[in-house]
Amino acid sequence: MVDTKGASATVARYARFAKNTLESGTFKETARSVAKHVSSTTPAYGLKRDLQAPHETPAAKIPISVRPLVEADVEHILDLHADVDSAERWERQTRTRLLERGIGRPYVAVDDEDDPCYVQWLFRPDENDEVQDFFHGLFPVLGRDEALLEGAFTPVRHQGQRIMSAGMSMIADKAADIGARYVVTFVGINNIASLKGCERAGFLPYVNRYEKRLVGRLRVEFHRMSAAEVEDARVLK
Ligand SMILES: CC(C)(COP(=O)(O)OP(=O)(O)OC[C@H]1O[C@@H](n2cnc3c(N)ncnc32)[C@H](O)[C@@H]1OP(=O)(O)O)[C@@H](O)C(=O)NCCC(=O)NCCS
Repeated sequence: MVDTKGASATVARYARFAKNTLESGTFKETARSVAKHVSSTTPAYGLKRDLQAPHETPAAKIPISVRPLVEADVEHILDLHADVDSAERWERQTRTRLLERGIGRPYVAVDDEDDPCYVQWLFRPDENDEVQDFFHGLFPVLGRDEALLEGAFTPVRHQGQRIMSAGMSMIADKAADIGARYVVTFVGINNIASLKGCERAGFLPYVNRYEKRLVGRLRVEFHRMSAAEVEDARVLK
């Protein structure tokens, strides 16, 4: 039987994708993403924090606090029409899609005027099915005492103030409220800014992830790291 419902959903998704690309001018980023789907292996590190291990929240260069994202924050941190370059617009678009799906708990770090300057999503193990579906298996299935952090984003105008380091540390602490002991997150091996932020937030590499794509088919492999590989993967030594 022909799956007309599935086919029309796919057509609608591609139409939305094309419309977004045209409207936002993110051609370079779209081309890169399409090329990646044809044939690629993308390595990333999985990093983990044990919430029971000693950790001191690092200070950002400006005073910040963390709270759940509210509707009014969106235009401040994820406005797709803001005067930003196409790379940042792409980052905003991917977070907007996640927000629209309505899964996970988005948190923001705000400055002393309550202006949101960092956003990140926390996922619980009872959302495993939704997470697997939305991210196409990019993350391991969470155990009962685990949570996932994903979607870290600091707008360029706020970057370099260690807001990620402090904000992520505080958002990870929120996982204890949902019964998690371990928090995991994944970062591309060349994303030094994010790797630094994660390490300062108390996360250490523990697994290698390989995202292998061939003509649209995705295979995700996880390989536990040896102690030597953990040391190699660390960016703050
Ligand atoms: C990753 C990101 C959230 C970091 O935000 P941030 O608030 O600026 O992070 P921090 O200030 O805590 O730390 C950034 C660190 O990386 C450094 N850094 C930034 N760009 C860098 C680069 N290209 N190479 C090396 N170091 C870099 C900064 O100098 C800073 O280190 P320092 O404090 O020792 O000087 C932000 O760059 C971002 O939103 N990027 C796009 C989205 C993204 O990659 N998200 C993460 C997905 S896993």
